[in-house]
Amino acid sequence: MPRGQLILIEGLDRSGKSTQAAYLNSKLPSSELIKFPDRSTPIGKIINEYLTDKSFKLCDQSAHLLFSANRWELNQQIRELLNQGKFVVLDRYIYSGIAYTLAKHDFQGQEGDEIVSSGGPRSKELGDVDWLLGPDKGLPKPDLTLFLTLDLEEISKRKGWGDERYEMQQFQAKVKECFLKILTAEQDPTIQIVDVGGKDINQVSELLWEIITSKGHDKLIDEPIHLI
Ligand code: ADP
Ligand code: TMP
Ligand code: MG
Repeated sequence: MPRGQLILIEGLDRSGKSTQAAYLNSKLPSSELIKFPDRSTPIGKIINEYLTDKSFKLCDQSAHLLFSANRWELNQQIRELLNQGKFVVLDRYIYSGIAYTLAKHDFQGQEGDEIVSSGGPRSKELGDVDWLLGPDKGLPKPDLTLFLTLDLEEISKRKGWGDERYEMQQFQAKVKECFLKILTAEQDPTIQIVDVGGKDINQVSELLWEIITSKGHDKLIDEPIHLI
């Protein structure tokens, strides 16, 4: 039986991921929207505390593994949905996992470092993309990843972010660098970097829908679920 496709929206904070993921979810024939981190699960609750309470101490490796463990909590559900012929739209996933931890490694010693990370010297595995990807190996791989990018200057004009651990201008610049580093290095045809600069919400939606339909990502497919 043909299965649904797994479509991931990645991007910087306030790039429009949640807005566009909700749009795609309403547009695809039969689909479910899953957001990571999913803060409602047992591990998601710890992640939520970590993100919202800056005095909550957790070493960077543990935090990294928890974000991955949170994805594993939803592994079965995602597979079942796809196999039932449903599309699954993801709002963040493994690339956020790699980019944020890598950014912590590269942010070492800069102002605000003790907030975004556990502080102190960073071990070299946090700068090692293979190590960072390791815990996600075996999870379903998105059939299409759309990475939304635009200038940080334009992003900063959007409705302000809250007060969570990583919501800090200088750190976000590092996250952007890390995202582009890992996504362009991948040379993976399922990953598409989409420049959404200067486009309003409807224009971005139209652009994403055009990409999805032109490549047949709105149709059920007869392939097994690919793995990370
Ligand atoms: P994310 O999930 O990536 O953090 P959101 O979808 O929550 O981003 O959008 C962040 C804010 O920016 C929201 O107030 C949203 O309405 C607004 N926004 C989203 N896309 C655009 C756009 N293309 N142009 C202007 N504002 C936008
Ligand atoms: P949100 O703002 O989209 O809810 O995401 C919460 C924060 O968690 C955001 O700053 C990105 C970060 N994050 C990681 O550090 N690693 C991950 O694997 C994921 C999914 C998110
Ligand atoms: Mg969002």
